[in-house]
Amino acid sequence: MKPVEIKDNVFWVGAIDWNERDFHNFLTRRGLTYNSYLIMDEKITLIDTVKHKFVKESMERIKKVVDPSEIDYVVVNHIEPDHSSGLPDTMKIAKNATILCSQRAKDGICKYYDCEGWDIRVVKGGDEVKIGKRTLTFIDMTMLHWPDSMATYLKEDKLLFSNDAFGQHIASEERFDEELGLEEAISWTKLYYANILMPLAGLIKKKLSEIQSSGLEIEMIAPSHGVIWKNPGRIVEAYSKWANFESGNKVVVVFDTMWHSTEKLAEAIADGAGSEGAEVRLFHIRKDPWADIVTEILDAKAVAIGSPTIHNGLFPPVAGFLTYLKGLKPQNKKGLAFGSYGWNGNAVKEIQKILEELKFETLEPLMVKFRPTEEELQKAFELGAELAR
Ligand code: FEO
Repeated sequence: MKPVEIKDNVFWVGAIDWNERDFHNFLTRRGLTYNSYLIMDEKITLIDTVKHKFVKESMERIKKVVDPSEIDYVVVNHIEPDHSSGLPDTMKIAKNATILCSQRAKDGICKYYDCEGWDIRVVKGGDEVKIGKRTLTFIDMTMLHWPDSMATYLKEDKLLFSNDAFGQHIASEERFDEELGLEEAISWTKLYYANILMPLAGLIKKKLSEIQSSGLEIEMIAPSHGVIWKNPGRIVEAYSKWANFESGNKVVVVFDTMWHSTEKLAEAIADGAGSEGAEVRLFHIRKDPWADIVTEILDAKAVAIGSPTIHNGLFPPVAGFLTYLKGLKPQNKKGLAFGSYGWNGNAVKEIQKILEELKFETLEPLMVKFRPTEEELQKAFELGAELAR
């Protein structure tokens, strides 16, 4: 339970949740961390709290540096309960602390918890609070990703506490990007981005350009999940690519199947795409984690989605997946709807409708009665090749 000094007198004092496998239906196959940071200055400052059942773990780390009852400020960058549910127990210990947060965070905190007696000071983007030799500057992050969100910049250390932004869901002993491996850290961040931030691409682009044009110097980014970025340029560059939906020559084929007919079509489409040299990913909706599927879709150029028709409509697992995908609002893709049917092909029509709602540029949907013939499989192959081209 050791704290980790990430800059002079700035410590990581968070908690590691090795066993959690679910983050509102996002598979966290390697667990996750709740990062909290302690700044030792004239005013002792805690940046973010941890999930409620991990307060003890975080306090053990804080105690190795200072008595937690001496904390003067608790900055709440974001009130989602993976961070804020530890606030009530933290405030019982840090009795004299003042909470610094946005107005919306204050409203939310007092809705989630009994905030009576808590000293809550509202700050807004651009405000500064001196904590001794150092200065906290607050950055408005409204809707990135909740209305209350903000980030905190420690001016003298050029250190950005970005909360969820630039975070990753991975539990590890490593605290820094380089220790985990830069490429691996980026790949975990991509999974997080795709499943949590993809729908906010427009706001992310705007915020990145605002930060870049403000001339804010950032030497280190300390998010509220996962490893800390000693190479902030690398992850900001990756965010910019994802927010612009930059895509490689990749085709993602996603399907579910009742009697293997839609599966055969999916494989033929994948073969066709591969024959044109595309990178191909094939996913079975009931077998593969949706978190992985949407991560591959994020930077794919084309997506084919297949469903059999059941009860005159979509196969329920496909309907669920499409609901998830629609909410994530992927952009700039080509699309293909396909599937087999018995007496009507409504499932394919419903997929087509959703692809159009997402503004995908679509090919003519492929509907096959019962089992695909050789000719129909050839047609699927050609559609895959066309998607790849
Ligand atoms: Fe890590 Fe939006 O909570």
